[in-house]
Amino acid sequence: MNDTVFDPGNDYDFASLVQEGRVHSAIYTDAAIFELELRRIFYRTWVYVGHASEVPSRGDYRVRLIGRQQVIMVRGGDGRVRVLMNRCRHRGAVVCEREAGNVKAFHCMYHGWTYDTTGRLVAVTGREAYGPEFDMEAMSLTPAPRMESYRGFVFASLAPAGESLAAFLGPAAKVLDYLVDASPVGEIVVDGGVSKTLYRGNWKLVGMDGYHPNYVHASVIAAWKRDADGGMGATHREDPFQDKADSRTRDLGHGHCMLDMRRQRLKHYDAYERFVKGIPGGEAYVRTMLEQHGEERGKLLVALAGDPHLGIFPNLQVINNQIRIMNPLAADRTEVNMFVVRLAGVSDELNTARLRQHESFYGPAGAGSPDDAEVFERAQMGMQADVDPWIDLSRGMHREVQDEDGTIVGLITDEVTQRGQARRWRELMLQGGER
Ligand code: FES
Ligand SMILES: [Fe+2]
Repeated sequence: MNDTVFDPGNDYDFASLVQEGRVHSAIYTDAAIFELELRRIFYRTWVYVGHASEVPSRGDYRVRLIGRQQVIMVRGGDGRVRVLMNRCRHRGAVVCEREAGNVKAFHCMYHGWTYDTTGRLVAVTGREAYGPEFDMEAMSLTPAPRMESYRGFVFASLAPAGESLAAFLGPAAKVLDYLVDASPVGEIVVDGGVSKTLYRGNWKLVGMDGYHPNYVHASVIAAWKRDADGGMGATHREDPFQDKADSRTRDLGHGHCMLDMRRQRLKHYDAYERFVKGIPGGEAYVRTMLEQHGEERGKLLVALAGDPHLGIFPNLQVINNQIRIMNPLAADRTEVNMFVVRLAGVSDELNTARLRQHESFYGPAGAGSPDDAEVFERAQMGMQADVDPWIDLSRGMHREVQDEDGTIVGLITDEVTQRGQARRWRELMLQGGER
């Protein structure tokens, strides 16, 4: 890709804009930096596209975004899932206008070219006008240059070469397992629709912050303490977002990070197990999990309730009972799409309880998410003031430690996660624009 047309060159000194413990607010507000982010981050690294269970039948598709570029995740007539660029090989129109559905073929409405669900060009209107040399086969919909999946999570990269998905995920893969392995058959189903939030703020503001809940979500934490919310995520009268708790922030490398609730949730295992067993099918669920995974991992999986609280940089977060995609639309505009997850092999009542708990915090009228969007907008608003433009991310810097597995860990309110994301951002931005 030619980077010279739009690249303002060395006007940006990214090494200075992102320092250890502080970042310049231009990385959230500057429109030209946003354009570079698309090309240096979104059009180069692995980007999450969707889960294979969203397209269970032949012809099922979902249209998703990689930065500004539309892709179609489709299960072809041959049963294979592909990620195809949503761009007609004739004059570039999108061939699929809907966000989701099932088709026999993609018809481009501009001049009527038709592609089958594997992307093959199968019909050209007025075919004879192109002569006998015209190679239909060579005019198939272009697949995303690379596609790989992990446990049904489909990622694509627009860069033809680069590290494997396994190398990209690193230790984050095992964290993602906490969600999939919460199902007794090791399978999740993403078929519960989507709730969307559009906010006027930068994409990097979203989530993985263990410091804000006590302020932005004060009423929810208060309800937890009263035990008024006994839902799937409840930790039973103890606020997990305080430094005395056993929860931690963890930088997994590559900008991936987690709010590590493992020890915190295990501490309250007994109370939580009682809660799960009170749901029809819960008793059998706990028994199966302990049988299948053994006492130690079985308990951990039950305790975590399928919530790895994981961020995969740049566009995926797996939190609570949802898969969340962040779509960067502009420096000051972001779309957050939340897809609820169903565990295969558990009772409907258990899945319903998980869904209700999700709605109570993350739903459009939930007690949590709307306040997050509000505070992101306030941050974006405040950052317009550039007289003293530094964002402080130094909380807990003096006390973070490197764990045996190489990950960096801090207390739950420490900005370990933000520093990890900023480091990765700088690394990618400094690599220049070629892919
Ligand atoms: S642009 Fe698709 S058929 Fe012409
Ligand atoms: Fe929040």
